[in-house]
Amino acid sequence: MKVLVVGGGGREHALCWKIAQSPLVETLYCAPGNPGIAELAECVHIGADEIDALCDFAKAEAVDLTVVGPEVPLTMGIVDTFQAAGLDIFGPNQAAAQIEGSKGFSKDLMARYNIPTAAYRSFTEHAAAVAYIKEQGAPIVVKADGLAAGKGVIVAMNEAQALAAVDDIMLDKVFGSAGASVVIEEFMDGEEASFFAFTDGRNILPLASSQDHKRVYDNDEGPNTGGMGAYSPAPVVTAELHDVIVETIVKPTIAGMAADGCPYSGILYVGLMIKNGRPRVVEFNARFGDPEAQPLLMRMKSDIVPVLLACARGELQQNSIEWHDKAAVCVVMASGGYPSPFAKGLAISGLDAAAQIDDLMVFHAGTVFKDGQVVNNGGRVLGVTGLGTTVKVAIDKAYAGVAAINWPEVHYRKDIGARALNRS
Ligand code: AMP
Ligand code: GLY
Repeated sequence: MKVLVVGGGGREHALCWKIAQSPLVETLYCAPGNPGIAELAECVHIGADEIDALCDFAKAEAVDLTVVGPEVPLTMGIVDTFQAAGLDIFGPNQAAAQIEGSKGFSKDLMARYNIPTAAYRSFTEHAAAVAYIKEQGAPIVVKADGLAAGKGVIVAMNEAQALAAVDDIMLDKVFGSAGASVVIEEFMDGEEASFFAFTDGRNILPLASSQDHKRVYDNDEGPNTGGMGAYSPAPVVTAELHDVIVETIVKPTIAGMAADGCPYSGILYVGLMIKNGRPRVVEFNARFGDPEAQPLLMRMKSDIVPVLLACARGELQQNSIEWHDKAAVCVVMASGGYPSPFAKGLAISGLDAAAQIDDLMVFHAGTVFKDGQVVNNGGRVLGVTGLGTTVKVAIDKAYAGVAAINWPEVHYRKDIGARALNRS
């Protein structure tokens, strides 16, 4: 069959890597792809949010399955457009993608179905938001309602920070229309983990556990990023906790969406805060996590393509996925300065040497070809992902890959996986 992956980051490289191994796949396209993906798939020069052009391409090439990586085309309705054209596509439709696209939507859903999360209120009036913050006090969390490229959440440790965040979002409109409404919620303390489940709208198929490192510097210091590294499995998610997450969060969410006439299919990403064995939802996303997809897919033993197709067709019956009994650790190599502005176009050395290392994959995220060389072109540039019999072996493997690669001002954390090591 012919498969098209939409996107061009580390998550999409990992998806292409896994999909390309399926005996069912004859041709793999990726739009727009990147230099790493170009080794596995035919890259198509169409942007991930050019929905009509992607649909025309899929029709012209008779693509059998399209797999959407990022959230923006999902919230723009790529799934609706493809389905209207009679094409199979993996991901939620526009209405269901609001679970990520609107914090107010997901908070209201959780309230309706008693899904554990932080207490909250939504506001469209600045004065009312200010009054609520003064009444509640700090710490408190202020969130722009819409998509803000991962930057629309301010965890305020004091009242002044919270009030400044409301001013920035509602008066100065630093996130544009994403900030027309704000959600103000209770600060949750605990350890974060990511949980993923495939679903066809009715049935669910949970994945192995994983966890990412969101802060830019070691010891979880500095600003939040899209993720500076990740590992799988995540020891914080014990077998018992896994069942609690499925029963109290994933099942009621999928059943609730269906009951509301807005069935959710694709992969559900649950961002969790865990305290004393009790999981609560921080956020939902409508897609695979990035970088979490990289270690997860390296550990996946089963063919992923039948699962993706079953979700797209509403035919998910399989109730387990086989995993390699190994740990995987992904270290993100980022441009110096990220998540603030950074220099682009710097030549990356050592990719060939890293490619020689066994049980190691260098997934490309923000790279591009320039004058025949691979150069950095985004904040997160590479996801260097190692597989090992233990977490320690996987960490050493990933950092052996990192040591082989270099460019000016490269930045990466040196403590990826340390939390898992401390628990094992
Ligand atoms: P979100 O975009 O909702 O995932 O938020 C980004 C990050 O902000 C999360 O990964 C958490 O680290 C933090 N965060 C969000 N909501 C809360 C909360 N209610 N309490 C504590 N931290 C939070
Ligand atoms: N790693 C966080 C995310 O994918 O949103």
